[in-house]
Amino acid sequence: MSFISEINRRRTFGIISHPDAGKTTLTEKLLLFGGAINEAGAVKSNKIKKGATSDFMEIERQRGISVATSVLAFEYNGIKINILDTPGHKDFAEDTFRTLTAVDSVIVVIDVAKGVEEQTEKLVEVCRMRNIPIIVFINKLDREGKDAFDLLDEIEQKLGLRVTPLSFPIGMGYDFKGIYNIWEKNINLFSGNSRKDIEDTIEISDLDSEELNTLIGDTSANTLREELELVEGIYPKFNNKDYLNGDLQPVFFGSALNNFGVRELLDCFVEIAPKPRPKQSEERLVKPEENKFTGFVFKIHANMDPKHRDRLAFIKIVSGEFKRNTPYLHVRLNKKLKFSSPNAFFAEKKQIVDISYPGDIVGLHDTGNFKIGDTLTEGEAINYKGIPSFSPEHFRYINNADPLKSKQLYKGIDQLMDEGVAQLFTLDLNGRKVIGTVGALQYEVIQYRLEHEYGAKCTYENLNVHKACWIEPEDEKNEEFKDFKRVKQRFLARDKQNQLVFFADSLFSLQLTEQKYPSIKFHLTSEFK
Ligand code: G4P
Repeated sequence: MSFISEINRRRTFGIISHPDAGKTTLTEKLLLFGGAINEAGAVKSNKIKKGATSDFMEIERQRGISVATSVLAFEYNGIKINILDTPGHKDFAEDTFRTLTAVDSVIVVIDVAKGVEEQTEKLVEVCRMRNIPIIVFINKLDREGKDAFDLLDEIEQKLGLRVTPLSFPIGMGYDFKGIYNIWEKNINLFSGNSRKDIEDTIEISDLDSEELNTLIGDTSANTLREELELVEGIYPKFNNKDYLNGDLQPVFFGSALNNFGVRELLDCFVEIAPKPRPKQSEERLVKPEENKFTGFVFKIHANMDPKHRDRLAFIKIVSGEFKRNTPYLHVRLNKKLKFSSPNAFFAEKKQIVDISYPGDIVGLHDTGNFKIGDTLTEGEAINYKGIPSFSPEHFRYINNADPLKSKQLYKGIDQLMDEGVAQLFTLDLNGRKVIGTVGALQYEVIQYRLEHEYGAKCTYENLNVHKACWIEPEDEKNEEFKDFKRVKQRFLARDKQNQLVFFADSLFSLQLTEQKYPSIKFHLTSEFK
């Protein structure tokens, strides 16, 4: 197959949802359709069970599973599908944000009863910022839930999306009769046996035909006709261009657990979802069809075995072909590296591959060369943008609890930060180290891993910080900026890239500071230029 055909047949996407909406179940059903697995229950949920916050075995178990499910690839009708795993747990939100830099589109799963939840809002906001094409799947139609139109309204309002349903439910919960597929113009009746068998679809080209009444009864048939008329009147017609630009979001209904409505979603997905998209680097826009290889690291996973401290760096291929045993330029280090055993991912297995194409993810064994955001190329010095750090939510001083092991401690902290577990700041005033995280759980993960993987011990001390703001002065030499640095010295720190950061102890003090120093901009993300 030619290089261009290989690119055109790839679809790399992520499934995002609030925990429990059904992401794992949907992933598993997609793999079943692709024939990549043949039994339900094969995809392990990577979520942290409730109440397991201080159970380290649980954290390790979760890490193990997330290595296995980082990328799940399968073939469907000649299309190579790469699903990138996105942890739903909010303490790992930063991991998900970074993974979203490597997807070409997403499917958002929403629970029909719970509607739009907090985590979905945050994740969809990131997708919208990047104009990532989104398909919405409303799940658990076998249960009582919100009215379909109310839910579509909620999605538009809370998520800021412009939706168009491509399927529509016939009843819900106890009365759930099936789904009318607006996209394919057919009906899929729910018999309750679909967990085992994939239900046949029935062509309905004319909604006014008596056949519809025979199939679902007079009342349901009339309601469906009215509802579909409303759908046509209210919502914009689907068009691929708006969807690909992130301006229009098709919606499907179904029940992942019952394997219902999933085939419709998948069939439409392979038809409309984008093939690998061009990516903006700091220097220029890079197109997948370019002959020379480029790619970037979006995720790093530490080895589960503490005796082997190598890690797996996940690279998304943006352009060209990635070949085994070929020297590539590590742009940040200005160093050529060669990889003898790059891993590709198939369903839940890893395999060494000789060649990978744009859209694919390869896992490279790394002994400490890579950081998240690093770029590999065939020689050109380009840097991919778009892996920002966001302000952490929690801040603590980290102290060395075993003075004989300070070297190990700093090495451990350094490597865990490169993996993106948390962010490290150094206070300007006294050089003390501060760890910032998205969730409190990370502190336990860090403490546990420092001890078990690096033989170092640490303790924490609370620090009252509301947000970390990256500072952009209008002019570094003006009096205002000098005054700011003098007055706020106690609250200034450097991130790992040595960028200046201001620790605001409350929203109020941040607002006051912004008013007092109007020529300085305060950003909640490290990427503002
Ligand atoms: P997540 O990855 O988004 O966190 O969700 P997951 O797929 O683990 O699903 C969360 C729960 O919702 C699971 O139940 C799952 O079986 C259930 N579920 C998923 N899809 C549907 C559906 O279409 N209908 C119904 N009724 N339930 C659905 P659980 O009890 O938490 O786990 P389990 O014991 O079933 O594994």
